[in-house]
Amino acid sequence: MFRTKSVPEGIPQHVAIIMDGNGRWAKRKLLPRYFGHRQGVVALKNAVRFCAKQQIPVLTVYAFSTENWFRPPEEVQFLMDLMTKTFQTEIDELYREGVCVKMLGDRNTITKAQLDLWEAAEDYTRSNTRLTLNVAFNYGGRKEIVHAVKSIATQVLAEELSLEEIDENTVNRFLYSAEMPNPDLVIRTGGDWRISNFLLWQSAYAEWFFTDVLWPDFDDSEFARALASYAKRDRRFGRLSENE
Ligand code: IPE
Ligand code: IPE
Ligand code: MG
Repeated sequence: MFRTKSVPEGIPQHVAIIMDGNGRWAKRKLLPRYFGHRQGVVALKNAVRFCAKQQIPVLTVYAFSTENWFRPPEEVQFLMDLMTKTFQTEIDELYREGVCVKMLGDRNTITKAQLDLWEAAEDYTRSNTRLTLNVAFNYGGRKEIVHAVKSIATQVLAEELSLEEIDENTVNRFLYSAEMPNPDLVIRTGGDWRISNFLLWQSAYAEWFFTDVLWPDFDDSEFARALASYAKRDRRFGRLSENE
């Protein structure tokens, strides 16, 4: 179970990132798109290290959406192979760094080999507490909510849960992200200002940071800029400011 940690003043408990812009990064360099995806892994490794250093307890990254299956089959295959290879080469280092890895996404529509890989990574790193790295893979916010609704309905039909008992906490419990704190800060690289089916429920009160920087170029200084912007925000949650 995830325990909320105390974090330094102004530092988010949970940062989520829509890692966008790999293809355009490659295109600008007149390279095929997959070069951008490969360089994106380098940027991701750096972002994980940065979060650990900044004492951010949870990082969620959007790696592959339920809509990304509609890309050309060669690109989908490349991304699947890249994910597998990255896991195989990085998991020991992640373990040594104290990272606990979790997959957020639909586990029923990935291959058995992939599922085994995710479950092995989760089991191996389960006791690590420095940083939780959620990888949103085969993830769609709407699909996640439908999955939660079905699970709740199943429990109601089995009379394990009554209608009166259902509240926001019940829904939370049935999301892929059960027990995680909600994201405080969501960063989107790549210049677009949209949510693209990411953490629809969980980001209800997140602060957003949009940057034109393409994901492979996202470095410590841009991450620090996002954190500095976050630290200045007045999070009212519908209330009035403290000084009003
Ligand atoms: C993000 O980069 C990575 C994935 C969606 C897997 P893109 O591949 O979307 O890059 P752009 O947006 O086309 O530049
Ligand atoms: C969002 O990026 C998904 C990931 C980063 C994995 P997309 O490139 O798929 O989003 P759209 O298509 O621009 O909305
Ligand atoms: Mg994109």
